[in-house]
Amino acid sequence: MTKALFVVSECAPLVKTGGLADVAGALPRALAHIGVGVRVLLPGYRSVMQQIGKTQKVAQFDDLLGGPARLRACTVAGLDLLILDAPHLFDRDGAIYGDPSGADWPDNAERFAALCKAAAMIAKGGVDGWVPGIVHGHDWQAGLTPEYMHALGVTTPFVFTIHNIAFHGNTDAVKLQALGLDPARFTSEHFEFWGQISAIKAGLVGAAKINTVSQTYAEELLTPEFGIGMDGILRARQADLSGIVNGIDLDVWNPATDPNITTYTTVRGKSANKKALRKTFGLGPADGPLCVLVSRLTEQKGIDLLLDALPALLNRGGQLALLGSGDPKLEVALLETADAHANLSVKIGYDEALSHQMMAGGDAILVPSRFEPCGLTQLYGLRYGTLPLVALTGGLADTVINASPAALARGVATGVQFFPVSAQALANGFVRLTDLFHDKKTWTTMQRNAMKQPVGWETSAAAYKALYDAALEARQ
Ligand code: ADP
Ligand code: GLC
Repeated sequence: MTKALFVVSECAPLVKTGGLADVAGALPRALAHIGVGVRVLLPGYRSVMQQIGKTQKVAQFDDLLGGPARLRACTVAGLDLLILDAPHLFDRDGAIYGDPSGADWPDNAERFAALCKAAAMIAKGGVDGWVPGIVHGHDWQAGLTPEYMHALGVTTPFVFTIHNIAFHGNTDAVKLQALGLDPARFTSEHFEFWGQISAIKAGLVGAAKINTVSQTYAEELLTPEFGIGMDGILRARQADLSGIVNGIDLDVWNPATDPNITTYTTVRGKSANKKALRKTFGLGPADGPLCVLVSRLTEQKGIDLLLDALPALLNRGGQLALLGSGDPKLEVALLETADAHANLSVKIGYDEALSHQMMAGGDAILVPSRFEPCGLTQLYGLRYGTLPLVALTGGLADTVINASPAALARGVATGVQFFPVSAQALANGFVRLTDLFHDKKTWTTMQRNAMKQPVGWETSAAAYKALYDAALEARQ
């Protein structure tokens, strides 16, 4: 049986800011079905420590990046967790990456270096008799793991998954010593990047295999536009780079059993949820589609494009219910626009239950991202018969079948894609979406197609297992 150690900064249901947490929470269970035993190494943030019940202390460190730390083993929601309990790094008010004012924690480099160091130590000696055969890191927070493994002489293959290349985890070179990194390896072949220490580069250089969360994003990453500084390194490692599309947790996202909604198994069952959703958002009846959007509000997600394109939806009798939080400027712009339009309703905040209700009650789900490594909300939409209107990029390109004349003629379309990623193209997308919505027969066929799409983890978990096998083989 393969044993894999996940090194990750968030994991549902304990701590989540985005899709990374969903993946870290669902993939281990999917891998367990095919004979891969995963333990998830996760920082013991204050909120995590408050949620976990009984734990077993399995290791301790007298001084881990400036203070004592312990590793605690526990099981939560079927996940086998190793919690890095390091109060000097993780026991604080505020968010997981930043202080209550929203600024990044000044010691983020140390915080996640500690996670990587703990991972390397687990890889070396194991914990309570369990030694991983694969170390699987996610995003920059896990990037320094191969450096620490190298320092300890550990040859366990490191697999690195990029969920978002936009975050590099770069930090000033003066921290070399504090982080316990080898100054001799502070070179462009290893983890030096434009004079800084780069956690993501360390991961990309040190990984036996690299993957990202869709095939299209794996190709996009090789270009300067999408690679955001890392494209050269990725081109050099192209032979070891692949794309494995994310799945969703079909137990959590199932309209037939979802405790947050009026459950349904056919598209007809959506109407009660639509009615309830309109009430929740204070929206009246309307002729056009009720669109929903659930997202972090950042530049990546194309919310500014949406604001510009919105008249094309509203003028055709469409509606939008939006839930999100993030960039204060976008939050204000959305709230102000909502004040001026009866058919736009915005809720600023983070609300898991409401996000389920939106998937159940919406006619269409919007994802107008400038780039999107995979994207999960369009997958939830498919499963709930809520048709995606998405930008043609990354995982959005790979998971939605555009209602092109050819796809409609074959009866296989599941949504609408727009390209290029601009306000004008999105506005055109709204026109196509609204026309399709009024063609009830076609719309219903598309909804049925959507609900039948295989959006679970089965295929992709098998692809991860194959990636682990390839990483193990490469070492021999
Ligand atoms: P990203 O990881 O870039 O944020 P994804 O689409 O992969 O994008 O994942 C986002 C996840 O976070 C989804 O599970 C989505 O439902 C959830 N989410 C984002 N914003 C909110 C919010 N305001 N309330 C509830 N869930 C949210
Ligand atoms: C990232 C990406 C998103 C992806 C998620 C999980 O946050 O922005 O596209 O779905 O990670 O892999």
